[in-house]
Amino acid sequence: MQVTEANGAKIPTLGLGTWQLSGRSGARVIEQALRLGYRHIDTAKNYGNERDVGEALRASGIGREEVFVTTKVPASDLAPANLERAAKQSLANLRLSEVNLLLIHWPNARIPLAETMGAMCKMKHEGYARHIGVSNFTVALLEEAATLASEPLVTNQIEWHPYLEQSKVQAACARQGIAVTAYSPIAQGQAAGDDTLARIGKRHGKTAGQVSLRWLVQNGAIVIPRTSKIERLSENMAIFDFALADDEMAEIGKLARRNGRVVNTGWAPDWD
Ligand SMILES: NC(=O)c1ccc[n+]([C@@H]2O[C@H](COP(=O)([O-])OP(=O)(O)OC[C@H]3O[C@@H](n4cnc5c(N)ncnc54)[C@H](OP(=O)(O)O)[C@@H]3O)[C@@H](O)[C@H]2O)c1
Repeated sequence: MQVTEANGAKIPTLGLGTWQLSGRSGARVIEQALRLGYRHIDTAKNYGNERDVGEALRASGIGREEVFVTTKVPASDLAPANLERAAKQSLANLRLSEVNLLLIHWPNARIPLAETMGAMCKMKHEGYARHIGVSNFTVALLEEAATLASEPLVTNQIEWHPYLEQSKVQAACARQGIAVTAYSPIAQGQAAGDDTLARIGKRHGKTAGQVSLRWLVQNGAIVIPRTSKIERLSENMAIFDFALADDEMAEIGKLARRNGRVVNTGWAPDWD
């Protein structure tokens, strides 16, 4: 499995997104992903499936040290005492003694970022998280967070796919040595039905969904596609045996559109 290095972390470049994968059926998909070779699982306290992720991990028989597990602290829990409680609850849910990566799920303007970053660093110092990072941070917030943290941030997890231009956040992350993790990398399924991606994919014997993932990887991203279909797990993994040409990369870059987000951010007070 290809890895992406960022500020001391080695993060598998492909992970499994697990939003809405829960219960026995969700755990079965996650377990199967691990058996097929996925070595990075993305969950969050808010997904309500950390117990299922932990169960799948144990059922897979894959050693704990071989799997990179990410979870996230909800925006409502960013005051230090709450953050600590939420992170420990996530570990109890997962039945793990530490996660590989703990992220702030969304920023929260009502809680001073300095306090939140202090609490995140404490989670790392005390061994609950091997690495820390953020999610849904704008350029300004990312730079503030990196300045406030006494520990390096390893990723900013953001929505990114061919319909959404993210070059400013990408450049800000690169300046700080922070990897970008692309969530909704198939635009929640939309990219799988895209004519341009399908046409380009045909030349390589690949599907439109695979082209979307490959485009992100060639742009330096870590990708965390989700599927509830076991047959699609292998499809979404098979993105490291072909390369898009420069003109194909550029053509896909032109699919970006205004309001290209597929994830609703309307509720998030800090999002611009
Ligand atoms: N940090 C955040 O705020 C945040 C926000 C959103 C998501 N995330 C994370 O990112 C992960 C991925 O994002 P996402 O779940 O929003 O969207 P996504 O991975 O872009 O797309 C998932 C959707 O695409 C379909 N799909 C997957 N592979 C396919 C393929 N090869 N061909 C056709 N359709 C395919 C799936 O349907 P089937 O199940 O039917 O295959 C599902 O409906 C999440 O699960 C979560 O872990 C984080």
